[in-house]
Amino acid sequence: MSLRLFIFLFLLFFKAFLFLSPSLCFQMPTNEVTRLVKDAIDVGYRHIDCADVYGNQKDVGLAIEEKIKAGAVERKDLFITGKLWNTKHDPQLVCATCQNALNELKITYFDNYLIHWPTGFVDSEEKYPLDANGQTLFSNIDYVDTWRALEALVDAGLCRSIGLSNFNVEQIKRVFEVARIKPANLQIECHPYLNQSELIDFCRKCNIVVTAYSPLGSPHSPYNKPGTYKLLEHPLIVDLALSYKRAPALILLLYQIQRGNAVITMSTKREHMADNLNACSFELNETEMKRIDELNFNGRYNLMENAKGHPHHPFEY
Ligand SMILES: *[C@@H]1O[C@H](CO)[C@@H](O)[C@H](O)[C@H]1NC(C)=O
Ligand SMILES: *[C@@H]1O[C@H](CO)[C@@H](O)[C@H](O)[C@H]1NC(C)=O
Repeated sequence: MSLRLFIFLFLLFFKAFLFLSPSLCFQMPTNEVTRLVKDAIDVGYRHIDCADVYGNQKDVGLAIEEKIKAGAVERKDLFITGKLWNTKHDPQLVCATCQNALNELKITYFDNYLIHWPTGFVDSEEKYPLDANGQTLFSNIDYVDTWRALEALVDAGLCRSIGLSNFNVEQIKRVFEVARIKPANLQIECHPYLNQSELIDFCRKCNIVVTAYSPLGSPHSPYNKPGTYKLLEHPLIVDLALSYKRAPALILLLYQIQRGNAVITMSTKREHMADNLNACSFELNETEMKRIDELNFNGRYNLMENAKGHPHHPFEY
């Protein structure tokens, strides 16, 4: 399993937040997305983390196509992740949904394809289909059945590996029980305020590679922000950054890498992108790692409140 690329690029464009909290929406013009992905490939990123719900796969696809045409990279050098959104959990919809994402990205296979959340919604063009009272419309499809449909994607050559995102231990166990092809990857929110040790230990035992999203504490996201300090401004992180003469972001990326996790981050500035790739140019010692670990307080930013009350909601509130 070649899921061993450590620095990943996370393209975040939560269209859903346009109507949920317009003032906080992190909006990026489409040609900007294309430029960012081209910059990322130029500076050396090889994993591009995509998802149907980000609503920008066509723009990402333009960048991939252009860079391959220009000979900057070959398809086999890229590691492209996709994610099946909640409204497409019906096994009947999975293949067409995946194929559509591939078409948008102008590629013929995913290196890695994930069930984005365990929580199925009814099939809809809306990412968050709502009833008349503004409540999200849940479906009763079991993610275990969705998993079987993902296995068929591997059989058909559309995906090299498949995995899960935002699943808890119990849910991963249920998938394991039925899986003919085991999950290769779990993508979860992970940073010093939410160190996820239990999930990570479990994944190690199951041979699942963990990918940490929001490793910087999601400084641009419209999520709730727990904690007195923004993670990037926490005195311990700032102190370590000063002592190593590195940006605070690099301390947080290296923290994940030294724990053996893959890590994805998002950057809108080419110089930050390039600098983040320097995360492996120094080392935190054991004492420093422990001090960072001690920041944990289960501080989760991404609560998926739209699926609150869903029988498959992965988190306890
Ligand atoms: C780790 O680095 C710190 C400086 O941040 C130093 O004070 C400490 O002695 C080092 N610990 C070990 C075990 O090397
Ligand atoms: C993670 O957080 C828990 C609970 O706060 C703590 O006991 C543990 O040492 C932390 N770090 C790791 C690597 O488990």
